[in-house]
Amino acid sequence: MPLTSKSLPEYWDTYKPHSGDGMPPAPVVDSFEWTQYPGHGPGADFLGRPRTALELGSAEGREAVWLARTGVEVTALDLSPAQTARARLWWEGTPGLSFVNAEACEYLADTSTTYDAVYSRWGAVWFTDPERLVPLIGRRLNPGGVLALSQAEPIEGFYGPQAMYGNGLSGRRLPVLRWSYSPEMWRDLLKRSGLTEIEASVLPAPEPENVGTLMVRAKAPAKPAVPRRRR
Ligand SMILES: C[S@@+](CC[C@H](N)C(=O)[O-])C[C@H]1O[C@@H](n2cnc3c(N)ncnc32)[C@H](O)[C@@H]1O
Repeated sequence: MPLTSKSLPEYWDTYKPHSGDGMPPAPVVDSFEWTQYPGHGPGADFLGRPRTALELGSAEGREAVWLARTGVEVTALDLSPAQTARARLWWEGTPGLSFVNAEACEYLADTSTTYDAVYSRWGAVWFTDPERLVPLIGRRLNPGGVLALSQAEPIEGFYGPQAMYGNGLSGRRLPVLRWSYSPEMWRDLLKRSGLTEIEASVLPAPEPENVGTLMVRAKAPAKPAVPRRRR
């Protein structure tokens, strides 16, 4: 079976499921969290001060909602039809917020829209080959625009695509991939993609023996290089 994202909406449709009948109430959105530990690490200021932003892998839409409430025009994109439909029902009518149901690489390759910030909070960047995704993001950033992402810290020495069975070990085969790289590898990849002001590090957990958070940020060059005139 080819390892493409086409098989994955069914996996992500059940992310953060709810029990019982009907639609659960919308989650409370009172902060922008990058890490798995509420109140730990930076907030939305990690993105700078964008006017427009694209979230890749927004699921419930919490961070997108928080950002839109601060006046940013946010596009919240997710591969999963169920996640997108649920987020739309919850957050319909939030000024400046729109939802797109699409695969990140396909959307970025097709759209002509550019953004001041593109971000992924444990989202599409973790579950897509960054060698393919990051150059596509770079092309859709405005000059000086920010790419920011967070995900679990890598396990030392185990880098590259990490595969698991999405339906468990006795279910129908559904390979799900996550890409895990060290901060040094991220710095190299971002540099090769033409991004600047690169920062990549592991933010330790509040209890230092617990799993930390990989935090990455880089910018598109402030101005496209002006070609020199020939004499
Ligand atoms: C682990 S969840 C994180 C969701 C949310 N950002 C959060 O922090 O709760 C990953 C999300 O990324 C989405 N996703 C994974 N791969 C994607 C892709 N290639 N394009 C768009 N969305 C993707 C999934 O559908 C899922 O909703």
